[in-house]
Amino acid sequence: MVNTVLVTGGAGLVGSECCRLLVSHGYDVISIDNYERGEIFGTDGDTEQNADRYLEHENIDHRVLDIRDETVTGLVAEVDGVIHTAAQPSHPKSIDIPYEDFDINVRGTLQLLEAIRKDGENTPFVFCSTNKVYGEVPNYFAYERVGERFEPVDHTLYDGFDEGLRIDQNKHTPFGVSKAAADLYVQEYAELYGIDTACFRMGCITGGAARAVELHNWEPYFVKLALTGEELTIYGYEGYQVRDVIHARDLADLFRRYLEDPRSGEVYNVGGGRENSISLRESFDLIEDVTGSRIDYTHGERREADHKWWITDLSKVRSHYPDWEIEYGLREIFEEIATELRNEIDGA
Ligand SMILES: NC(=O)c1ccc[n+]([C@@H]2O[C@H](COP(=O)([O-])OP(=O)(O)OC[C@H]3O[C@@H](n4cnc5c(N)ncnc54)[C@H](O)[C@@H]3O)[C@@H](O)[C@H]2O)c1
Repeated sequence: MVNTVLVTGGAGLVGSECCRLLVSHGYDVISIDNYERGEIFGTDGDTEQNADRYLEHENIDHRVLDIRDETVTGLVAEVDGVIHTAAQPSHPKSIDIPYEDFDINVRGTLQLLEAIRKDGENTPFVFCSTNKVYGEVPNYFAYERVGERFEPVDHTLYDGFDEGLRIDQNKHTPFGVSKAAADLYVQEYAELYGIDTACFRMGCITGGAARAVELHNWEPYFVKLALTGEELTIYGYEGYQVRDVIHARDLADLFRRYLEDPRSGEVYNVGGGRENSISLRESFDLIEDVTGSRIDYTHGERREADHKWWITDLSKVRSHYPDWEIEYGLREIFEEIATELRNEIDGA
């Protein structure tokens, strides 16, 4: 029975949505965040303001704390479930800070797992993994241009990639490696110690709480440029690359369902699926519809390990959690982002 949940990275996009969703379902939450995101991305990317906006609630105990601090072990013993969202989350950024990326993503995750093992209770553990654990493998498939987007030549991939993609012998960036290492540790703690752990491998998570910076969360960044009139650089693939987008609240609801009905050692690909898929070029039309402004863009070099096409095959997660549904469509997501950013720009 889960009563109190520890959310790491509680001020972040996913973490803050998890905190809000859990308390709306009657849970108590302990949230920890050291605002590392502000150190990594600077003021525009800082999540500290999310703490003031979203975490002021009598059932949320928010603390400024690093996941690597040894007192975190004591916190794990107090709770009945853990949602681990804290991370160095950017794959381009990880190329400049590989050691910090490793230390947060691998050592930080291992410390949490160890705390659960030492606590002796089978505390269910949700790990925010990433589709970047598959490195460049999605790029080894053939794609063709169909209208304003790429589509796979092999039509059996129409509904996306499942969990069977290989992860070895290809380029990942340090972020892909650190997340893959943590992902394997999370699986291993289920295999070896019998803990209920699950790795959720996501692609593009977004929502009004996302902080708009070029190196992480492209959706609010694009909307911000549309609103401010600044020029966007598209890195590779001329904007035909495809992503599937999921609102952080839909993801938070899946995590809640996992904590309530956990399985041991599972791996799930999670994203918006075919219905919430969009190419960058297609997003310009949607963003223009929503904001009234068209993005002005130029082209840059392709980024390392950047996917040409990613749609998530949701079959496995839907079969394990059949009552879970994606509530937010693309238009609602972009409208929410535009509303938040307009408020922010007007208030600045
Ligand atoms: N946003 C995406 O599109 C996406 C896609 C795939 C996977 N993920 C994964 O989902 C998780 C959540 O992503 P997000 O978009 O909410 O990221 P985010 O950057 O918005 O939130 C992460 C939070 O963790 C905090 N943090 C970082 N290091 C910390 C530390 N050492 N101790 C305590 N707090 C720390 C940051 O300050 C930040 O508030 C991450 O693990 C990320 O790798 C995100």
